Amino acid sequence: MKKRIIGILLTAALSISMLAGCGASGTTGGESEALADGVLTVGTNAEFPPFEYVGDDGEPDGFDIALINAVGEKLGVKVEVENMEFDSLVSSIGSKTDVAIAGMTVTDERKQSVDFSEPYFDAVQHVLVPADSTIASYEDLEGKTIGCQLGTTGDFIIEEIEGASDQQYNKAVDAVNDLINGRLDAVIVDSNPAEVFTANYPDKIRDLDGETFGFETEQYAIAMPKGDKVLAEAINKAINELKADGTFDALVKKYL
Ligand code: ARG
Repeated sequence: MKKRIIGILLTAALSISMLAGCGASGTTGGESEALADGVLTVGTNAEFPPFEYVGDDGEPDGFDIALINAVGEKLGVKVEVENMEFDSLVSSIGSKTDVAIAGMTVTDERKQSVDFSEPYFDAVQHVLVPADSTIASYEDLEGKTIGCQLGTTGDFIIEEIEGASDQQYNKAVDAVNDLINGRLDAVIVDSNPAEVFTANYPDKIRDLDGETFGFETEQYAIAMPKGDKVLAEAINKAINELKADGTFDALVKKYL
């Protein structure tokens, strides 16, 4: 009996040290911890057409989903997409998920918690206003009630606008609905979703290019666990291959 317990303890100690060794190599160049189980768990927030939305079959679809599936194929891993709040994507990396793809802008603040892949798309924030609005410049936004999706770069822009009341929603589309209902003076949201939302209500809202407002170009990238160099290299290589072999352009054509 005693012998068996010691045996079990020894095996446990051995496997723990083996696991530890494995973890160490995951960050130093051997293997990626995120890829070790053959499954890449991907966080997204499927409320951001055309990059991600819930398809007719109830599953997340869109440019980002197609892109990460193509990346997964290159890496030889199964891709599992988890739909969650945009605001919890970054903090879920390394626990609930391996990476996140969500039209996510590379920012210095996010870089403190995650690494980013090479950027794959350029965007800018747009300003949606009611069709009869007189808002036309950055100064016109001062003191206004402005909607956005919580935790997005649009949200951070509103925080800086003098006297503006920042109305945060879990979904950008809910902000757009409140704009139409007269509860908001404007909504700040990324260029491509802005186009999609406007196309749904062409008589009710106008889509103003954020460049007129002095907003800077943003770059979308895949967010990854900090320090997993093997994963970062593999993902970047996959993105570059997809760009070189025409897959990336085909996805742009299909979705954007
Ligand atoms: N590009 C913006 C950001 O990074 C908005 C992204 C929102 N994405 C989404 N899937 N809801 O903050």
